[in-house]
Amino acid sequence: MLVSWYCKECGFRVSLDKRYFWRCPRCGSPLDIEYRPVYEYGSRGLDRFRGLLPISPLKYIGEGETKIIIEKLDGVEVVFKLEYSNPSGSFKDRGTALAISYAYTMGYKEVVEDSSGNTGISVALYSRIYKLRSRIVIPKTTSREKKCLMRMLGAELVEVPTRGDAANYVLSLISDAFYVAHTWSPLYIYGASTISFEVYEDYGVPDVVMLPVGSGGLLLGVMKGFEILNSLGKVSKIPRPVAIEGYSVQPVFKVVKGYEEKGEDSSLAEGIMVPNPPRLNEVKNYIDKYGGDVILVGNSEIIKALEELLDLGFVVEPTSATAYAAFKKYRDRLKGLKVLIVLTGSGLKMCRE
Ligand SMILES: Cc1ncc(COP(=O)(O)O)c(C=O)c1O
Ligand SMILES: [Zn+2]
Repeated sequence: MLVSWYCKECGFRVSLDKRYFWRCPRCGSPLDIEYRPVYEYGSRGLDRFRGLLPISPLKYIGEGETKIIIEKLDGVEVVFKLEYSNPSGSFKDRGTALAISYAYTMGYKEVVEDSSGNTGISVALYSRIYKLRSRIVIPKTTSREKKCLMRMLGAELVEVPTRGDAANYVLSLISDAFYVAHTWSPLYIYGASTISFEVYEDYGVPDVVMLPVGSGGLLLGVMKGFEILNSLGKVSKIPRPVAIEGYSVQPVFKVVKGYEEKGEDSSLAEGIMVPNPPRLNEVKNYIDKYGGDVILVGNSEIIKALEELLDLGFVVEPTSATAYAAFKKYRDRLKGLKVLIVLTGSGLKMCRE
């Protein structure tokens, strides 16, 4: 199968096994990957969907194949996808499994990344199993527990003041290292698309998907997954995407609605504080194309949602609880519908009293 890095903006195209690019070397845009998906099974985890993905990972440590739990809540059928049960406690493992396997195949010995936490933990874990050195640039706001976990996994940490500083500083570390660049990488999008393949096989197609959005990789991946299934004639409908952001950082809301909405601080949702997502327009396009929406939430709503998720037995982190907080705000508009809520990250990483 011919698999290439491909830039939709300028037409740049190079075979994936020739060289790695974290963005288009010609025009600087985020890259896509060109390949021809076929419905063909491999073995376990992500490799199960081998034919639907541009590459499949060499090693398997239990990522993917997460459970769904279906609850009837206020007249809405809610499908919770337990992504927090991935090996490093978040959905990021799907993209990381592809990215680090690829880095290893391409002969890299060192990996660098900028992350607010979960991707850093995931990259540290997968780098360890492939015996690659990892260096993670994190903002000071990253929780103590997440820092501790990254160090335990063997990553070297570089602390800078903000998430934006991390994105800038990491560029000075690239030279011979593999820059994962999860906010840019199409491998994270294809990794997340396997969430949709699993939901399709275990449940079917929901009417609405409600997803926390930081860089947008999760939303783009889930939508891309349903589009791939649609292009292969497996499904006839594509769900409506509802993006969830916090009031404190709301680039998607602003670009979709054309204004900003004032509201409560939302700093508890540390995983979605991404002010300039490189693929912002792609997120907007999906929302426009499939009649989606954007909902903003604040800390008090997040805390309440987190408590209710714990009541249901879901031990998640505040960033994941934003999706449930938004569901509660929006539920009058969801009556009679089937709604997928992806529970993205584990609460076991951040136990605080
Ligand atoms: C727990 C959690 N949920 C959701 C997201 C948002 O994912 P994305 O950056 O792909 O939009 C993140 C990102 O770090 C996260 O850590
Ligand atoms: Zn280009």
